[in-house]
Amino acid sequence: MNLTGLESIVGASNVLTDAAMTESYTVDWTGRFRGSTPAVVRPADTHEVAEVVRWCAANGVAVVPQGGNTGLVGGSVPLRDEIVLSLRRLDAVSDVDAGAGQVTAGAGVTIGDLQRAARATGWDYGVDWGARDTATVGGAIATNAGGSKVARYGDTRAQVIGVEAVLADGSVVAHLGGLLKDNTGYHLPSLLCGSEGTLGVVTAARVRLVPALSERVVALLGFETVDQALRATSVLRRSLPSVEAVELFFDDGLALVRETFGLSAPFATPASAYLVVEAADHEDPTDTFASVVDELDVLAASVATSSDDRAALWRYREAHTEAINLIGPPHKLDVTLPAVELAGFVGEVRQRVAAVLPDARVWLFGHAADGNLHVNVTGVDPDDERVDDAVLSLVAARGGSISAEHGIGTAKKRWLHLNRSSEELAAMRAIKSALDPRGILNPNCLLP
Ligand code: FAD
Ligand code: MLT
Ligand code: ZN
Repeated sequence: MNLTGLESIVGASNVLTDAAMTESYTVDWTGRFRGSTPAVVRPADTHEVAEVVRWCAANGVAVVPQGGNTGLVGGSVPLRDEIVLSLRRLDAVSDVDAGAGQVTAGAGVTIGDLQRAARATGWDYGVDWGARDTATVGGAIATNAGGSKVARYGDTRAQVIGVEAVLADGSVVAHLGGLLKDNTGYHLPSLLCGSEGTLGVVTAARVRLVPALSERVVALLGFETVDQALRATSVLRRSLPSVEAVELFFDDGLALVRETFGLSAPFATPASAYLVVEAADHEDPTDTFASVVDELDVLAASVATSSDDRAALWRYREAHTEAINLIGPPHKLDVTLPAVELAGFVGEVRQRVAAVLPDARVWLFGHAADGNLHVNVTGVDPDDERVDDAVLSLVAARGGSISAEHGIGTAKKRWLHLNRSSEELAAMRAIKSALDPRGILNPNCLLP
């Protein structure tokens, strides 16, 4: 492929073609999905992104937009020799409005940098998750990322007031004025949230901030049964408006994390199910929090207020992803269940997997406050989809969603019909072909 046209847009040093340089852009975070690319193109600003997309459209070349490449459904890598359009250089935070609590962030700003920029203004950013220092604003919008604070502040879509994006023909749509009430027709930011790079390339976003809360407490709670842990989740959410996160994991995941990272046991008495709970407020929430915890059926509890101690408790939960990945590329099945189905699902899902692949291991953890469970299965060939089929069919049968927060990507598009009717799929296809008639934007992703 002759790439001189791209080199003249972004400069030769920002068109990477050497395999050693492109390798990390062609394999996903889990190592399950890998492909190849003729080039990774690294534009510096919206104008260059638009020129690159226009060049791709003119030359009939497909593009995979990429941010931090932390996506977990195989949507961020080129599987059929697409060009990788890396947005990481669009990393400016601008137009900070400390009065209104809004900022504009380039697509390549990491979530960690966005949080730090927000805190510097006396506000905070309401979405948070373990990959904060690598995942980007553009990727978060494209996947509608969730994380641990959704029950309190909503998902990424709930933070986005306006978006600037490059469409498949290279035109730029921008609506970054920051008006909170603005009913002037179709809301393109909502459409782009969760579109997984298939409808446009996000170049910037206007996001709302949330009040910065200085007083924080984190508790690790151990329970004898998953039912008790889930009942406690409901009580905590109902009784404590200061709760920001209620996160779930189990004894086998804790053992793996401890063994992998050499961590000590949190309690003398082992539990079966664990919750990490974080509460935050302007006033110290510890006493109110402790009085609610006293009413719960806990086997053991550890409470932390200093930042180091809080991080140490969070580590037991957040380190699951990395510990599981070190076993070998997992099949990651991120699902939501109706609250009444969650405990039953936890009991049944291991049996369903064992019936298909007796030697596979099932790891369960997730965001209990949202009914969002991460079913990770290790010891499965990357291409063997029998386990995915068994788990996702069970989710649908119990009224759940096959993707809570990671998206569909390439990993789950075969099963999209479990949650979406043929009419909904037809409407999605109509939107796709209206905005990207030649199908050059992330063609392996989302729509079957
Ligand atoms: P990428 O991985 O680069 O891309 C993801 C998708 O977005 C791809 O389809 C890509 O084409 C598209 N895309 C990227 N940038 C753009 C753009 N500018 N314009 C258009 N399309 C674009 N996710 C959660 O929701 N909650 C969690 O709790 C969570 N925890 C995680 C923990 C770890 C340790 C890891 C590794 C991942 C976790 N994730 C989580 C998944 C991941 O971080 C999110 O999906 C994140 O939003 C991806 O951002 P990214 O910048 O890495 O995007
Ligand atoms: C998490 O909640 O830790 C993430 O979504 C990552 C994962 O599913 O492994
Ligand atoms: Zn998650």
